[in-house]
Amino acid sequence: MEKIIGIVAVLAAGAGIHLHAQKFDGLALTPPMGWNSWNKFAGDINETLIRETADAMATNGMRAAGYVYVVVDDCWEAKERDRQGNIVADPKKFPGGMKALGDYLHAQGFKFGIHNCAGAKTCAGYPGGRGHEFQDALTYASWGVDFLKYDWCEHGTANAEETYKTMRDGLATAGRPIVFSLCEWGDNKPWLWARDVGHLWRTTGDIYNCFDCVLDHGSWKSWGVLQILDLQNGLREYAGPGHWNDPDMLEVGNGMPMNEERAHFSMWCMLAAPLIAGNDMTSMSNATHEILTNPEAIAVDQDKLGIQGFKYSARDGVETWFKPLDDGGWAMCILNRNRMAKAFSFDWKNANVTDTFARRAANFSTTAYRLRNVWTKKEAGTTSEPLMAEIPGHDVLMLRVTANSSAQGR
Ligand code: GLA
Repeated sequence: MEKIIGIVAVLAAGAGIHLHAQKFDGLALTPPMGWNSWNKFAGDINETLIRETADAMATNGMRAAGYVYVVVDDCWEAKERDRQGNIVADPKKFPGGMKALGDYLHAQGFKFGIHNCAGAKTCAGYPGGRGHEFQDALTYASWGVDFLKYDWCEHGTANAEETYKTMRDGLATAGRPIVFSLCEWGDNKPWLWARDVGHLWRTTGDIYNCFDCVLDHGSWKSWGVLQILDLQNGLREYAGPGHWNDPDMLEVGNGMPMNEERAHFSMWCMLAAPLIAGNDMTSMSNATHEILTNPEAIAVDQDKLGIQGFKYSARDGVETWFKPLDDGGWAMCILNRNRMAKAFSFDWKNANVTDTFARRAANFSTTAYRLRNVWTKKEAGTTSEPLMAEIPGHDVLMLRVTANSSAQGR
């Protein structure tokens, strides 16, 4: 039946008839978590790497921590489509084929992700999806794909909204629930139109493995962690369960020092960002492993309220962020953007932490909230005393602030 619907859709698309469909609801109710090949391996990928990555994640605690999407990024395709116009995998890099790779991932409890492009070619010059959307959606569904990251290179004069809607319709018609990840770098403000198109959308150009830098490529730039963070300003109200702002994949484990990795990861959790690891799963340091798998940080990211955090204050390069949580409490993160350590104090009683978007206000003047340090995993007092701390350079203090009645009045 699915096949018949698909064939009808392909014919309709060929005849220029537009069938509008809906995105798959109920997917990505919390920000997707997984791994993607691009940040570490770029075009140097093959099926052995993907299988070894999955094997490592199944045993090193990553899968158990929630990282279930294994996404093959650019450069998996053969240079040309086949004679029927089908997209095919490079037979040298993926000799077993994509269906077998998907089966391998599924058998281990992973979900299978793949990358392609809404333009004529991918950014690395492989066949893109333009004009083949319905056909490719059927192919991906037949391979057991669960997640499609769809890029924006070589798009010519195409309209982004229309183009991504065409692929959404293709996926809907193919009938397999596939998380649709829009990767048009925020160029056309997808937060204004993509809520009914995809499940996540990139808000910026590519991340770059550096805490505080900009890499200028001439016609485009890639951005460090702090630069990406600043570019999220004003976007929080567009995100929520099933439709997330995507500040790009993680660079944790790709060479930044531990404090910067911790700050990067913490802020992505505060943003309710998709957590897509981008490092080598077969050889990670203990420090990186501890950061990526910290259940308390992940719980902030995956909180089912699905509200992106906000910047409450900024002074001398020290920012205080809050994120309302489903249990009535908050995550709080103090980010020191400076290289040098900074003293920080916070007088709870005089704070006015109000989130008009989430319609939530903290009652620090009347209620003692319990504090827990997310990184030391230790209780850290209550809000009945002012908070005094020293925040190391390029690091964070991340707290879970819980209105726990049993902690009140202690
Ligand atoms: C774009 C995307 C990246 C990656 C590359 C692959 O730059 O933004 O995340 O997918 O393409 O070529």
